[in-house]
Amino acid sequence: MNIYLTGFMGCGKSSIGKELSSALNMAVSDTDALVQESTGMSIPEIFNQKGEAGFRKIESEILRSIPDKRLVVTGGGLACSEDNWNYMKQNGYIVYIKVAAPVLFERLRTDENRQKRPLICKLNDKELNDYIRQMLEQREYFYRRADYVFQSPEQNLNILIEKLKTIRL
Ligand code: S3P
Repeated sequence: MNIYLTGFMGCGKSSIGKELSSALNMAVSDTDALVQESTGMSIPEIFNQKGEAGFRKIESEILRSIPDKRLVVTGGGLACSEDNWNYMKQNGYIVYIKVAAPVLFERLRTDENRQKRPLICKLNDKELNDYIRQMLEQREYFYRRADYVFQSPEQNLNILIEKLKTIRL
């Protein structure tokens, strides 16, 4: 069994993943990093050359190549297909890091690394705000089915750590 961290861009999957990894003593597999390693391309390069569909195909293959007993940090869109969702459900425990849209907007608007996220890098503030609200609503159709919903930043991370300690991997 793996633990899969899911949630929208900017919800903090990577930094929460690091903290969980040391608290639970589990190795992390980050799907965005693995996609870049396996292709030798950055995410914007993949979107440019292969389109979003090409990127989704690669990240789906990467998901299936991750060994057992890993803490898996997933890209924000990875969980949002029935095939990937079912795969994760069958192979582990899914956590949704739930962050409210206004908080995501503030974080993504001021993110220095925004150019690394091709879906939002060209949006102005109003477009970004609309995009977050619309996409979050669509994607929550998947995210909300997670085994555990962690409300960030309101909930203390120790709550999630204690919960995950009870999961038999
Ligand atoms: C995406 C999120 C990104 C990355 C790609 C697409 C998305 O990962 O996989 O840019 O569709 O939400 P993060 O959630 O780590 O930003």
